Amino acid sequence: MAIGSVESVAVVAVPFPAQGHLNQLVHLSLLLASRGLDVHYAAPPPHVLQARSRLHGWDPDTLRTIHFHDLDISAYESPSPDPAAPTPFPSHLMPMIETYEVAARGPLDALLDRLSASYRRVVVLYDRLISFAVAAAARLRNGEAFGLQCVAISYGIGWLDPAHQLLREHGLQFHPVDACMSKEFVEYLYRSEQDGAVPAGLVMNTCRALEGEFINEISAHPMFKEQKLFAVGPLNPLLDASARTRGKTRHECTDWLDKQPPASVLYVSFGTTSTLRGDQVAELSAALKGSKQRFIWVLRDADRADIFADSGESRHTELLSRFTAETQGTGLVITGWAPQLEILAHGATAAFLSHCGWNSTMESLSHGKPILAWPMHSDQPWDAELVCKYLKAGLLVRPWEKHSEVIPAEAIQEVIEEAMISEKGMAMRQRAKVLGEAVRASLADGGSSRKDLDDFVGHITR
Ligand code: UDX
Repeated sequence: MAIGSVESVAVVAVPFPAQGHLNQLVHLSLLLASRGLDVHYAAPPPHVLQARSRLHGWDPDTLRTIHFHDLDISAYESPSPDPAAPTPFPSHLMPMIETYEVAARGPLDALLDRLSASYRRVVVLYDRLISFAVAAAARLRNGEAFGLQCVAISYGIGWLDPAHQLLREHGLQFHPVDACMSKEFVEYLYRSEQDGAVPAGLVMNTCRALEGEFINEISAHPMFKEQKLFAVGPLNPLLDASARTRGKTRHECTDWLDKQPPASVLYVSFGTTSTLRGDQVAELSAALKGSKQRFIWVLRDADRADIFADSGESRHTELLSRFTAETQGTGLVITGWAPQLEILAHGATAAFLSHCGWNSTMESLSHGKPILAWPMHSDQPWDAELVCKYLKAGLLVRPWEKHSEVIPAEAIQEVIEEAMISEKGMAMRQRAKVLGEAVRASLADGGSSRKDLDDFVGHITR
């Protein structure tokens, strides 16, 4: 192996084991592998399988360019989410997270030791939710760690200082962290922050077109003074408006979208960590029907810790048979896995009613689609704030403070109609389109995210 060449460096991607995080490190791993780097992706076996099977936006053959490794951990409970829980935070994932936190360290150390012996440098690219990976890299004679910021960098600013000047200037509200997450998860986060070692830098899934001011603030923050920062997002691939499935099979909803008029369909989905109560599902279905707008609705509960243990049956069979008959021709309900990137990229899609997970937010904005924001937990209330008040590319369906209330159909329908048929909605859609073009330019030749990715590759292969 030649010193100073990409071949002499191993990148080890260590994701947090939940879809919205597995996903981002897969995208980044594939990007780095496409630059000739040796990329190793390490997670518990069901999560490796999950990350591979839910790949989107890439040709499945590209997975062959990454080395996947199983981090074997002990058994954990994988309960179903509780739709009647008092808060929407996915507490049912905690047994898996707590097991992973303890049990993944040994297998990760063993993998890193092996790689350390055969590469000039081992770069551990870890999700910032699992900072024990920093200490794992620090043990190596030739290790170096970079954190991946899987959420908005402006969320990081709010986390460090909820009364930050930039937030005040723009009239943005940062909800206290422990109000948006379970006590156990906040304790987990503080525990992992105490793991010690400082990484060499931070890679951010964002771009200057969306969060330029916040990127500048982080760069100037004393905590990051010694660190190298790279804003390389969006990590999700950008598809064309005439999107065609890159895999072998095409989802029926894309055929349906092909037959709809341009910018006429509302896409509705709440990601993989949120579960709507039964009465809320009924109100949302009434709003969709009442609005008479075309729609694709992904009606799923939050993932279980092990998605392959899922029964696959919908809780809403009765409502669904009535609702699908009543809305036939106007909309589609998907209870399985939806090809979200293709739906968002499609020319027939007008807007996205979303819980504002950071993936969904980036995927929507990068395809020029505005967001009807219905935040559920964690960073989502902040993302809704960013999208609606700062970027002005969204409308709030309901403020996060009302997360324990059932939102009536009339209120939801009003926002849907405002987005889909009013002048204000048209202006918002136009604004999202302009932002989408700016995001696309960030990834093109000469764009800031392209440059930061080049710089990151240059730095780790120096
Ligand atoms: C979680 C957090 O909730 C989110 O706030 C955080 O920023 C990342 O981790 P999740 O709630 O699942 O993620 O939301 P999101 O970030 O939007 O990630 C969901 C991902 O799954 C997206 O990439 C989305 O495209 C994909 N998805 C979801 C599908 O492709 N099809 C589906 O049917 C459902």
